[in-house]
Parts: sequence; C-alpha cells; structure tokens
Amino acid sequence: MTTNSVTAKQKLPPGPSGHFLLGNILDFGRDLNGFLSACARKYGPVTRLRMVHRRAFLLSDAKLNEYLLLGNYKNFIKHQLFFRRTRAVFGLGLLSADGDFWRKQRRLAAPAFARDRIAGYGRIMSEYARELVGEWKDGETRDMYTDMRSVAAKIVARSLFDENVAGDVQLVEEAMTDLLEAVTVRMLNPFVAPDWLPTPSVLRYRRAVRRIDDLIHRFIAEHRRNLDQRTTLLAMLMQARDDQNQPMSEQQLRDESVTLFIAGHDTTATALSWTLYLLTQHPEWQKQLQAVVDDKLKGRAPQVSDMAALAPIEWTFKESLRLYPSVSLVARQSLEDCEIGGYQIPGGSLLYVSPAAMHSDPQYFEHPERFMPERWGTDLEARLPRCVYMPFSGGPRTCIGDRFAMMEGVLLLANFLQFFAFEYAGTSHPQPFASITLIPKGGVPVKLRQRDVDHSVSNPSIVEAARLTAGSES
Ligand code: HEM
Repeated sequence: MTTNSVTAKQKLPPGPSGHFLLGNILDFGRDLNGFLSACARKYGPVTRLRMVHRRAFLLSDAKLNEYLLLGNYKNFIKHQLFFRRTRAVFGLGLLSADGDFWRKQRRLAAPAFARDRIAGYGRIMSEYARELVGEWKDGETRDMYTDMRSVAAKIVARSLFDENVAGDVQLVEEAMTDLLEAVTVRMLNPFVAPDWLPTPSVLRYRRAVRRIDDLIHRFIAEHRRNLDQRTTLLAMLMQARDDQNQPMSEQQLRDESVTLFIAGHDTTATALSWTLYLLTQHPEWQKQLQAVVDDKLKGRAPQVSDMAALAPIEWTFKESLRLYPSVSLVARQSLEDCEIGGYQIPGGSLLYVSPAAMHSDPQYFEHPERFMPERWGTDLEARLPRCVYMPFSGGPRTCIGDRFAMMEGVLLLANFLQFFAFEYAGTSHPQPFASITLIPKGGVPVKLRQRDVDHSVSNPSIVEAARLTAGSES
C-alpha cells in the first residue's frame, strides 16, 4: 500500500470538481451518503475532494480503510475543526481525545463496557421499552423517531447516572436534548460565532452546557457518598485507576459522561427508527419476527440471556445499520505526509471513510440495495474483510458502546414486536439526512396495531400486561 516511487508522489487521485470556492462542502450538505457512494463507485479506492481550501480524500477500499484505522492509526487524529467548535460540550472525552491521553482513557473506560458489565443494563432497557409500549394505543399514529430518541435517552441516562431517581432522568434528557441541538447547529453551519461572543445562539449554547454541567457535578457528588454500592457506568468510571493508581479528575468524569450520553443515545435512536421503518416496508419479515418473539418469550420481558434465541432480530438491526448507518462519516486528519493507495497524502489532509459507501459495494454485499436481514444468518460476517461492514467504525477507536447498542436494539425491538405491529402512516417516505447521525427527515410516522396474541399473561389487555411487567421490574 505504501510505495516510494516518484510517480506516486506526483500523482493525485481522481475526484469530482466542486464549487470553485467551497469545494465539495455543498455536495456533503445535499446528500452525503449518496454523494460519497457515487464517488466510491466512480473514482475507485481513493477519491480526491476539497473542503474549502483543505485537501480531503475519501477511502473506499477495505485494505486502505484498515491502514487508516488500524495499521497506521497513530498518524491520523480526529477531525479537529468539529471538536474545537464543540470543546465546551465534549471536552477531552473519548470521542474527541487523541494520542496517549485517549489511549489511557480508553483503557480506563473499557471495563465499564465489558460483556458481563453491560449485561446488567439489559434490565433497564426492557423496563423502559415496556414503559413506552404501555403508552402506545391501538390505532394511533406516532412518530417513532421521537419515541426512540426519548426511550434511548432515558436508557443511557439511567445506565450512566442513576439507579433509582426517575425525575433526574427526565432532567438529563431535556438538558442533553438542548445540548445536542446546539452541537448540531455547530456541526452543520460552516460559520459559527466564537464562544466568547454573546450572540443569542452562543448564549443558548453556553446555557445548555451550564445546565448539564450542574447536573453531572451533582451526580458525581451523590455517587461519592456511596460509590461502592453503585453499579452505574459513572460509578465504574469513578472507580477506575490509571497506572499511577490515580482516579479521573472531576472534569474528566464530566467530559466522559457527556460524551457517552451524546454518543450513546442518538445513534441508537436513529438505528431503531430506521429499523422500524424497514419493518413497515417488509411486513412478511415483521410477521416472522413476531413469530420468533412469541415462540421464544411467551410474553415475558426479554433478557440478555435471550439474545441468541432472538438472533433474527439482531440480523434485522444489523441490516438496518448496513442500509442506514447512524454515523455517516468516519473522519480523520493526517499528522504527517504518507502514501495511501499509491498516492501521496500531505500532512494535515482530511481522510474520510463512508460506511454507507462500503455497505453498498456489490463486491461485498449481494444485492446491496435490498433489505435482506437473513444475509447475517450466513457466514457473511466471517467472510467479510475487516473495515467493510463498519457502522461502529473499526480499529482501536471502534465504538466502545457497540455491544451495548446491539443489546439495546435487540431488546427494544423484541419488546415492541411482542405487543404491536407497525404500519407506515406517512404520505412520503423519510429521507435520510446526515446530521450528527443519519436522521430520518420528516420522522417515521407509524400506525400502531395492537397484536391480538395470547401471551398466557393473566390480564386480558396486552398493553395492560406490558404496564404491569414494566412496573414489576422496576
Ligand atoms: C447504533 C448505535 C451506535 C453507533 C452506530 C455508533 C457508532 C460509532 C462510531 C462509528 C464511532 C467511531 C467514530 C470514529 O471512528 O470516528 C463511535 C465511537 C464511540 N461511541 Fe458509538 N455508536 C453507537 C452507540 C454507542 C453507545 C450506546 C455508546 C455508549 C453508551 C457509544 C459510545 C461511543 C464512544 C465513547 C465512542 C468513542 C470511542 C473512542 O474513540 O475511543 N456509542 N460510535
């Protein structure tokens, strides 16, 4: 992959001509996934792009992605511009940190996401899923994107901060929603006022940051009182010690908490929304999944130990993440000159991998445009090279919450499918829009049909049964 030939140094990869001033920024804003997938098909493994004056390259080849994310990952840091703009939100949390500091933090946070630790969060997931099902009514139309954001926010807030106090979960959800909106504005707008300028939008941003900071510092103080009895993710982070036996500072705990909350809820919420949308478009598959949950669960709340029995639901969630990967761009910045795919890449360049472009490559996925969840029931995953299916990215910086997210996807869908069938109720179909996550623009309006199934639960009303089960588990 790396050669030292003079010709390689002189050659530039092919790429689309963009706007004379802005380069390809406008193409990114219009239809990011469509644009990058088309570039990958047309220009091959490396596409030359430009973001205003900055050189950028799209990689669309398993080996080159691996070089970027695994083989030579120390030469590629996170995209600086976005994280500079949102420093007050993410601070030096896992998502934005780099180098030795990131490595140390990742080591400290890893035990909190170990398989046996996250299994404990399955109960919270099923509990909130059943609480939501308890609110749903037969025949009503609801926006699934709104519902999924709310339930995912509650799950991550509760897993992170609090075992008992439901009111605080609501507060966190509200404060984080404000914060996420502020981050989205900063990401999508090419021109953002500096943090010291008291414009209305900067003041709103500062207020949102202050609100969440106050809450988190309170949670940390409460945790300190009885840390050894706590089982939250925050407690795990507070108990972690580095090589010098030092705990994380209060500021670092705050940065990691905000990062985990933001990285951990909108991603899962969009993935769940797209999955429900896909199920409305494939009613036969939806029925098959209902048969699976009826047969395997017989009306009881699914638990982590049911994951293997619910494999077809996991295939469905994976297929949804293939077609609609929540994160549209894995972005890095090169520290030093290097060579990729025979091309000289100057230090300071932006390097992108598009999960959507990789996931729609016919050399890896048969009929890539089709929804075929059963493909994940074959040996596909074992056959795929690394860095092809990459909704969670790849290499050492792969998503730390990938297992948490898969578990949440499967447990929530299993709970929903037990009690309701889903029909699409929109007049037009949701459009994928690449914001911080791949939002279903226009929402996912769905008509809910209460299922007439005897789960052998004594209460005649299934929804009532859902309420009772949620209550008995809390
Ligand atoms: C379907 C759900 C999710 C998707 C699609 C997703 C996707 C991703 C991707 C693509 C990255 C890597 C970005 C990059 O390489 O630049 C990432 C990183 C990360 N994710 Fe997730 N994520 C999901 C759920 C979660 C959850 C549930 C959590 C935590 C509770 C989480 C926490 C994080 C963190 C902390 C990082 C930074 C890791 C590091 O750099 O060390 N994510 N995620």
